[in-house]
Amino acid sequence: MTKVAIVYHSGSGRTGLLAQAVHRGAARVEGVTADLLRIVPEQLDRRTRWRDEETMRTLQDADGVIFGCTTLMGMPSAPFKAFMEGCFDPWWVQGWKDKFAGGFTNSASLNGDKTNTLIQLLVFAAQMGMIWIPMGDHPGANWSGAGVDDVNRLGSFLGPMSQSLADLPVEQATPPSDLVTGERYGERFARIVRHWVQGGEFPTERYVDKATSAARLRQAAATAAA
Ligand SMILES: Cc1cc2nc3c(=O)[nH]c(=O)nc-3n(C[C@H](O)[C@H](O)[C@H](O)COP(=O)(O)O)c2cc1C
Repeated sequence: MTKVAIVYHSGSGRTGLLAQAVHRGAARVEGVTADLLRIVPEQLDRRTRWRDEETMRTLQDADGVIFGCTTLMGMPSAPFKAFMEGCFDPWWVQGWKDKFAGGFTNSASLNGDKTNTLIQLLVFAAQMGMIWIPMGDHPGANWSGAGVDDVNRLGSFLGPMSQSLADLPVEQATPPSDLVTGERYGERFARIVRHWVQGGEFPTERYVDKATSAARLRQAAATAAA
């Protein structure tokens, strides 16, 4: 079995919706087990360093790890930063070297400086010696027929992003297309990691014509939301 873990922090649950979507995508790949692990402030010690042995064991065992957190003040949320600093033990022994890595984030604004959060997750993965898997879908919402239903409507290449409107209840805050984007990423990530671990065929899905791809993906988003 190929093992993928998704480790994330979400204060009030909005980023959690994207985490669940990424997890759904990874878990539906045959031959892959996917663990969804939430970082909570109770795991921080008095020096604000994160520690949780069970989570650490699962991460150590995984072939690929997807990191996710809320964007706050244009950067990773504090508990997730504490988690990253708490990974000093595997850093010291290059324990995660050559595992696959990826990342996602969520915030309230359309932009909200989410790219900075993903860059920080990428730098963390590089410090851990990991191999980053990017989004892999062209940007949506960049053509005349585009709309909120486009997959990758926030146009992120590093990894999936979601926007959750601040005034709506958690479960209504995020457009379904952002969650489909997360699912697609989780599935792509798991397929790549499985291929690396188990070998076999690897058919690459390519959508090169922007208008056609956005329309196809919008259809997929609408079907998944129905
Ligand atoms: C202290 C604070 C800082 C924030 N900074 C940003 C920000 O830089 N960009 C943004 O788009 N939203 C920002 N937000 C909004 C959150 O990202 C948004 O509410 C998010 O959906 C919360 O996710 P969660 O439910 O997973 O905790 C901020 C909110 C708070 C409370």
